[in-house]
Amino acid sequence: MRAAVAPQKLKAVYAGVAGRYDWQHGLLTLHSDQRGRELVVDRTVNRGDRVLDAGGGTGSTTLLAAGKVGPEGHVTQFDFSSQMQAVARERAVAAGLSGRMDFQSGDMLALPYAEASFDSVLSTYSLCPLFDPAKGALELYRVLKPGGRLGVAHSASPENPVIYWLAERLEDIIWHFPGISMGCRAVSVLPALLRAGARPLFERRLGVPLYPFLVFVVEKPA
Ligand SMILES: C[S@@+](CC[C@H](N)C(=O)[O-])C[C@H]1O[C@@H](n2cnc3c(N)ncnc32)[C@H](O)[C@@H]1O
Repeated sequence: MRAAVAPQKLKAVYAGVAGRYDWQHGLLTLHSDQRGRELVVDRTVNRGDRVLDAGGGTGSTTLLAAGKVGPEGHVTQFDFSSQMQAVARERAVAAGLSGRMDFQSGDMLALPYAEASFDSVLSTYSLCPLFDPAKGALELYRVLKPGGRLGVAHSASPENPVIYWLAERLEDIIWHFPGISMGCRAVSVLPALLRAGARPLFERRLGVPLYPFLVFVVEKPA
């Protein structure tokens, strides 16, 4: 796995890209990113849930979750970039969903929540830039209630060796431009969750061949 961009630099990168993040990420993934978010929310969130969207960024997944929980549910959006969250807040107001959300800031690697705080926990493309993605995934699992679901979408390595080689060469170049890569690299976190006792419910690969995503949902045994 490629070494992570340092946290302070990563914060500066997201402060700089916040205004163009949605179209840039959509373009780089040929808009398959939104399909990943939809799958995650569809398979993880139930009406009435108390949800955590970790690394929620500009709020694309947060908004989908807020729609699905209904008026009796609630979504906490958590991120370390106030600039990304400012975009999410505007979108929440425009969608008339801000009453079902709150926004909190901090580090995903050390969440300020007790164990078993949320019915469902989401992370779309936010484990990929973390210094230690598996630690981040276990932290999300920690705050999930027994019987609750964790839904994740993250960048993954291409399975075809030729495409893998090409993707690595492309990433060697893009990695020099953090404003384009946004610190995201292929990661693997599901094995750590399974070792922690998570029960796998759903797994699918999607995205463009050079830039695939893994979408998965696990349940914390009750
Ligand atoms: C690629 S964006 C994904 C945003 C959103 N979830 C989506 O689906 O588009 C990654 C997000 O994770 C946030 N992030 C990265 N590292 C973080 C950390 N250690 N703690 C909290 N947020 C972090 C960034 O600020 C950014 O908003």
